[in-house]
Amino acid sequence: MDFMNVMNERFAAKSFSDEKISKENLDKVIEFGRLSPSSLGLEPWKFVVVSNQELKDKLVPACFGQTQVGQASEVVIILNNRKNFAEGSTFLADTFNARLPEDIAKKMIPTYQGFLDNMDVSQKDDWSKRQCFIAAANMMTGAKSLGIDSCPMEGFVEDKVLEVLDVDSKEFGVAMVIPFGFADKPGYPKTRFPVEQVVEFK
Ligand SMILES: Cc1cc2nc3c(=O)[nH]c(=O)nc-3n(C[C@H](O)[C@H](O)[C@H](O)COP(=O)(O)O)c2cc1C
Repeated sequence: MDFMNVMNERFAAKSFSDEKISKENLDKVIEFGRLSPSSLGLEPWKFVVVSNQELKDKLVPACFGQTQVGQASEVVIILNNRKNFAEGSTFLADTFNARLPEDIAKKMIPTYQGFLDNMDVSQKDDWSKRQCFIAAANMMTGAKSLGIDSCPMEGFVEDKVLEVLDVDSKEFGVAMVIPFGFADKPGYPKTRFPVEQVVEFK
């Protein structure tokens, strides 16, 4: 599909049919997320892919009863990593040391560790969740290019989602919940503000 058509045709699906996503396409959608850009290349995310119906049903009440979560073929929960950026973590240094030549890593580590250390826990959460949203967008747009529908969702109670997934809130937060599958109704016409209202050329 032409990219502009993909952008026009993706929509936030509110209900899904029983059709399942093939393993091949599911792997591609996950890869679209994994290949996304991130600040300092630190990939502050984890993708939890829920296919199990019992778990999907448990997620519905954690998402304000939004039924598309229970109907989707897969629900991907993008978690933002807290433990790798917690005080005292050596994750940044370890990653830079593994990826960069020794002299460059040596120069960069103190600067960027300082950047992290200057943020409090809530600022780090904002920083990492913003990046998870880039992965989310790539996954949803990429999915549509394969004919797969999705719904971006921030309508959830974070602690409840973590409880269903049995994840420690000290280690991860929840950036977005995304049901993926095949919509059981066609999309609706796009409603967007006109270019003149949202774009400024200088
Ligand atoms: C951050 C974010 C959170 C959203 N949360 C929900 C949600 O909880 N439930 C839902 O049905 N749609 C949710 N949406 C979908 C938006 O309502 C939808 O994307 C918007 O109205 C534009 O419509 P379109 O995506 O169909 O083009 C969310 C979208 C974004 C980007």
